Amino acid sequence: CLNDTDDLGMLKYKGTYFINDLTSVEWLDFIDNLEIRDSDVFLVTYPKSGTIWSQQILSLIFNEGHLRGTESIDNINRVPWIEYNMCNMDFDTRPSPRLFSSHLPYYLMPKDFRNHRCKTIYVYRNPKDVMLSFYHFHKILKGFKKQRSWEEFIDMFMSGKVFAGLWSDHVRGWYTNKKDLDILFITYEEMIKDLRSSVIKISRFVDKMLNDETVDIIVEKATFQNMRHDPLANYTFLSPNNFDFNKGSFLRKGTVGDWKNMMTVAQSEKFDQMFQDKLKVLPIKIFWDI
Ligand code: A3P
Repeated sequence: CLNDTDDLGMLKYKGTYFINDLTSVEWLDFIDNLEIRDSDVFLVTYPKSGTIWSQQILSLIFNEGHLRGTESIDNINRVPWIEYNMCNMDFDTRPSPRLFSSHLPYYLMPKDFRNHRCKTIYVYRNPKDVMLSFYHFHKILKGFKKQRSWEEFIDMFMSGKVFAGLWSDHVRGWYTNKKDLDILFITYEEMIKDLRSSVIKISRFVDKMLNDETVDIIVEKATFQNMRHDPLANYTFLSPNNFDFNKGSFLRKGTVGDWKNMMTVAQSEKFDQMFQDKLKVLPIKIFWDI
């Protein structure tokens, strides 16, 4: 069943899978030629690693917590995706600094990206929690016509037959090119453990010096509970043609280590075995629990 990609609703473009209903070959070709500015800021993640959360934080940092510019604009419009132009935005006319989100693997970033020292924030999360979150996400995405069992989904995830491809390839692609980039690596778990310090870390990286009060406001607006109920932050503004929010939500649990409630010992061992070699060459810290 893993060779059957069509009924998963995925589009394969230059070796990587995309959500079919939300992009096209034409758009991805267009993005490849996007003109980049030195002032651009990219938020890059593998799916289900805390993207929406980071979009919220980043856009609040740039609006200095006043919500000026964020109070009536949803977070996709504040930090739009480049490969999924769900808002039909004209990126060229956007004022600087432009904030962008992306799940693109490094090798598919716009060609011009390599000619600029723009800033990139790469958020990553332990792959077992990513996989579980991804599994639940498939239930709400209408494009995935056939619902897979947990067991089947593990196989899909471990063979990279999910959108954005194999988790370890994604992280490795970005990590091994870090010397050529102005990039901050930050983990989902670190953000869970100490949101305030994470906000400060990100703001310093993007050269935004915030006072304590502003940091407090941002932290408050970026908590799981607040975001879950904030219609501009919780992605429920997305089209019901693409998403079925009766079956779940983007903000599901927001915890670390939930994989232990779902993976059997055998599944976890198989996962470790498969990713062990790939993880060995990545000198990054992975937090399976906190
Ligand atoms: P779970 O499904 O484990 O709950 P992405 O935005 O990349 O799709 O990632 C989604 C994951 O980030 C979901 O994980 C979601 O609950 C979690 N998340 C979103 N906002 C969060 C927040 N403010 N605090 C903690 N986790 C958050």
